[in-house]
Amino acid sequence: MTRAPLFKRVAVIGLGLIGGSLASAIRRQGLATVVVGTDTRQDELALGVELGVIDEIAANVQDAVSGADLVVLAVPVRATRAVLEQIQPWLPEGALLTDVGSTKSSFVADVEAVFGQLPPNVIPGHPIAGSEKSGIRAANPDLFANHKVILTPDEHSDKAGLERLKGLWEGCGATVLTMSVEYHDEVLAATSHLPHLIAFSLVDTLAGEDENMDIFRYAAGGFRDFTRIAASDPVMWHDIFLSNREAVLRVIDHFTHDLDQLRTAIADQDSATLMRVFSRAKAAREHFSKMLSGQAYVTNNAEKQVTFRLQPGGSISGDIRVPGDKSMSHRSIMLGALADGVTEVQGFLEGEDSLATLQAFRDMGVTIEGPENGFVRIHGVGINGLQAPRGPLYLGNSGTAMRLFAGLLAAQAFDSELTGDESLSKRPMGRVADPLRAMGARIDTAEGGRPPLKIHGGQPLTGIHYEMPVASAQVKSCLLLAGLYAEGSTSVTEPAPTRDHTERMLAGFGYHVHRDGATASVVGGGSLTASNIDVPADISSAAFFLVAASIAPGSDLTLRHVGMNPTRVGVINILKQMGANIEVLNEREIGGEPVADLRVRSADLKGIDIPEDQVPLAIDEFPVLFVAAACAEGRTVLRGAEELRVKESDRIQVMADGLAAVGVETTVTPDGIIIDGGQPIVGGKVDSHGDHRIAMSFAVASLRAQGEIEVTDCANVATSFPGFVELARQTGIHISSEGVE
Ligand code: S3P
Repeated sequence: MTRAPLFKRVAVIGLGLIGGSLASAIRRQGLATVVVGTDTRQDELALGVELGVIDEIAANVQDAVSGADLVVLAVPVRATRAVLEQIQPWLPEGALLTDVGSTKSSFVADVEAVFGQLPPNVIPGHPIAGSEKSGIRAANPDLFANHKVILTPDEHSDKAGLERLKGLWEGCGATVLTMSVEYHDEVLAATSHLPHLIAFSLVDTLAGEDENMDIFRYAAGGFRDFTRIAASDPVMWHDIFLSNREAVLRVIDHFTHDLDQLRTAIADQDSATLMRVFSRAKAAREHFSKMLSGQAYVTNNAEKQVTFRLQPGGSISGDIRVPGDKSMSHRSIMLGALADGVTEVQGFLEGEDSLATLQAFRDMGVTIEGPENGFVRIHGVGINGLQAPRGPLYLGNSGTAMRLFAGLLAAQAFDSELTGDESLSKRPMGRVADPLRAMGARIDTAEGGRPPLKIHGGQPLTGIHYEMPVASAQVKSCLLLAGLYAEGSTSVTEPAPTRDHTERMLAGFGYHVHRDGATASVVGGGSLTASNIDVPADISSAAFFLVAASIAPGSDLTLRHVGMNPTRVGVINILKQMGANIEVLNEREIGGEPVADLRVRSADLKGIDIPEDQVPLAIDEFPVLFVAAACAEGRTVLRGAEELRVKESDRIQVMADGLAAVGVETTVTPDGIIIDGGQPIVGGKVDSHGDHRIAMSFAVASLRAQGEIEVTDCANVATSFPGFVELARQTGIHISSEGVE
């Protein structure tokens, strides 16, 4: 496709690796009519034309800039001011000026020195791409493809110009982010400048110690990987460190302090500190490795695009165990961290939600080994042993983590901040912040009681009695956790039974929870004793297969070791009432939680009026129950389920839209839905709105579809069900997954 060039004449001042690569990318993509280059190094310039990097040579800056509508400064950072002085008198009215330097405060300071201010048409930029190679010979038009470019406009910047500049970088294959100058410099100091400094320093130290370079001869891959960037351009890095001096000094001090701490730990043979630091670092690296492998900078989950493609039909068979229970996995880490002693967890869910909880405790100084095949060992720090985290605790997609943490952190001596992804940032937190405030907590929320939560530490809490307006296990658990620290008794009454894992697990850790009908209470001031936990398979994940095997003809599937807590079995009760053939086998109790194996075979389902008392007991399973209803004979009516509208998505509306997209019309009501079963599922394209359970539900629907179903925005399936695609395929769903997970 040919498109009109975005710019008429782009002048690139400085034809090194970045300037040269940008010039050649602009030319290759037809983003400008003419690309003119200039450089003080005449030989590089000549090479520029010869290699096809630029169209024309300009003899000097004045010639380059005259008539240009975009000027890109790609000179070493410390040369910026002198070049700006040369450009300033000749810069045409309305032309945009940008740069590619690694430090942005210094660029803005140089512009202000030369222009008297930062003019609206000057927009600082920084492509996060490079190589240890330098010079125009290394110019590569693909250098920016799948890389980030950061632009740092301010409120006066020319909006139209900013859009054109974004378009230019996007045309070169990059993803453009905008942020403030200060934030850019802080982030880069930590993630780029410090690692380069350490690499230079390490190689220099070893080279100094080893005149004959023997160490290097024997050095293995680890050394090579770690020090690759020490071969980068010394002049460029000299300039960067001096230009971003303040931010770099701050992060060096931080690092020196931590390195010193490790030195002391080794000198003192302090295994606990070494294990804490190494296991936290390993986990953080693994957590980020997916992000790091794809692109240099990732801001949030929206970057991960995963699409499920499903071919129609199939039947379900096999003998499987789905991953561990999400609710119990969160709580096992929380209570294990606060206990005295070492807690070992089996069956931990290695999904992003529970990993976010695990990482947050590491950030508060708790040593946690694993997870490895569902095994986690937590070295509890005691109920008052948490340390202040260094930055905000990022909880991804997890509402459970955010609400339970709110209770726990409201009672700590330190301040904390809780943040999350786009979906979590829209979810109501007033339901926990309000009763916590009544206990004496100080919590700031964003508008409408949304995240982020800023929690002020050092507030003494007093127990309250709270009648919950909604049946929420998260609110109940939040208040009970705060209650561990509160003066006196904290009691919570629920309008309908909700999952009671917090109460059961607290009891397992030796903390008395009083139960009186619908009211649970704790008295503050006690302590927790470490206790091993066996997390059963998550009934909420099993639900997809319960429905799949029920609706697909010829199915026979066994699900092992499924958690059967009576506050969670709504999905089985509802499916059985619809006529499902589910056998509950081998019932047993493990670690205070009932567990069973489930055998499910195909059945002719019929529509029902879902009893309202089952709603809290099946709260997470409705998306897939809607699929069951669509495949049933007759009408299914759900009422009293308005809570579904504030889950990871508005699950009533998003399911109704998805069902309509595959050919099934429904009637949405404020607190539920009416589904007339038996309409053909013709197939089509469904937007899951980043909601894991919506995505998996439509994978199940494909079993009864007539045509292909495509489900977009599925990356969040990893929050609750890692390995879903493989397990679904293994049992008989014709699923493939495309994109970066
Ligand atoms: C959960 C409680 C439920 C549920 C969520 C997990 C928990 O939320 O939907 O997936 O672990 O306590 P609510 O308390 O908001 O109903």
